[in-house]
Amino acid sequence: MSLSKALFFLPLLGCADAFVGPSAAPFRSAAVAAAPSGGASATGPTSLGPLPPLEGFDPRAGSTSAVDTNNKGGVWVPQMARPRRNRKSEAIRGMVRENIVLPRNFIYPLFIHEETYDTEIPSMPGQKRFSLAGMMAEVAESWQYGVKTFVLFPKVEDSLKTNDGREAYNKAGIVPRAIGMIKERFPEATVMTDVALDPYSDQGHDGIVLNGKIINDETIEQLCKQAVCQARAGADIVAPSDMMDGRVGALRRALDSEGFTDVSIMAYTAKYASAYYGPFRDALDSHPGFGDKKTYQQDPANGREALLEAALDAAEGADFLMVKPGMPYLDVILRLKQASNLPIAAYHVSGEYAMLKAAAEKGWLNEKDVVLETMTCFKRAGCDIILTYYAKQAAKWLIEDGLI
Ligand code: PBG
Repeated sequence: MSLSKALFFLPLLGCADAFVGPSAAPFRSAAVAAAPSGGASATGPTSLGPLPPLEGFDPRAGSTSAVDTNNKGGVWVPQMARPRRNRKSEAIRGMVRENIVLPRNFIYPLFIHEETYDTEIPSMPGQKRFSLAGMMAEVAESWQYGVKTFVLFPKVEDSLKTNDGREAYNKAGIVPRAIGMIKERFPEATVMTDVALDPYSDQGHDGIVLNGKIINDETIEQLCKQAVCQARAGADIVAPSDMMDGRVGALRRALDSEGFTDVSIMAYTAKYASAYYGPFRDALDSHPGFGDKKTYQQDPANGREALLEAALDAAEGADFLMVKPGMPYLDVILRLKQASNLPIAAYHVSGEYAMLKAAAEKGWLNEKDVVLETMTCFKRAGCDIILTYYAKQAAKWLIEDGLI
């Protein structure tokens, strides 16, 4: 490779080996990894014999030889810039590493329900719908690993679901009670709430339905009540996931008019009409009753539209901009990062979690390595914050493996 070509590639370097240190062996199944190495040297051969020739071709020969010979008679590629030098040890890789993900960058989504037991979610192995007591135990455990921000998603009984979603602002509802419990025991925790009607809608939509349409402004009137109810219960951040036009500004005015100028808004700025939300809808039993969400969530084919949403959300007073889903939308994350000075969050959604879990369960991927790589990639793309069902587990891995 020529020097100019080598320099061209330099900015692309840096993250591939982010978590390959002494503690991170190349992937083998857990059973094999635990077995003794069978006598093979830890570093491979220590000397090389002569390399077998290829008939009719000598890379060192001729006026346009592919490789040269150095003063010691060894082969030498006349390459001055060798990016591998900055990868030669974990110490140097650590020194030049551009992005490190930390437990405090995570927001942990928690599903809650009114039952007295925790229920497994089949399409999200390892995640549960928690009783309020179960939720408190999960918060306490996560706290030990430095995860301090949580977002709550309720599964609501069918009998409480209506088209106008009025249960969303019942002050004795499950979300206000859950907020109170967390803030009482963990006053330093940050509790974020979902602002949208779908868990409370008998239509399975994020807004009020009229004549087959999801009506914008009437929905926002409901969302304002929902956000104020959550703020009264102690929410630190409200996060509108509904995608109605103008809801950030309306929520800001609603909160301010009630004295909640300190309550933040994390806007689901670029929320796409994605098939990756399936397991989440299983978890909350909130699949749309008819149609889909394409009249309010963004078309996955569009990138510029995210910039339009970002400009509106920023102007309306959002404190954070979120992109959702995460992995397939890293380009959108980067574009928002370049376009805005607000912190950027990504939601690593239920379907992304389910894919990694399924491959890991089959032994096809090393779960720890692939999860930590994924989280690092979010940061590289421009995320300050990552909402992920892996929050507790990833924080635990980062700490236990001494990666932070
Ligand atoms: C609904 C909402 C959804 C998610 C978060 N809030 C689903 C949807 O829009 O249908 C999805 C999160 C996930 O898939 O993990 N307001």
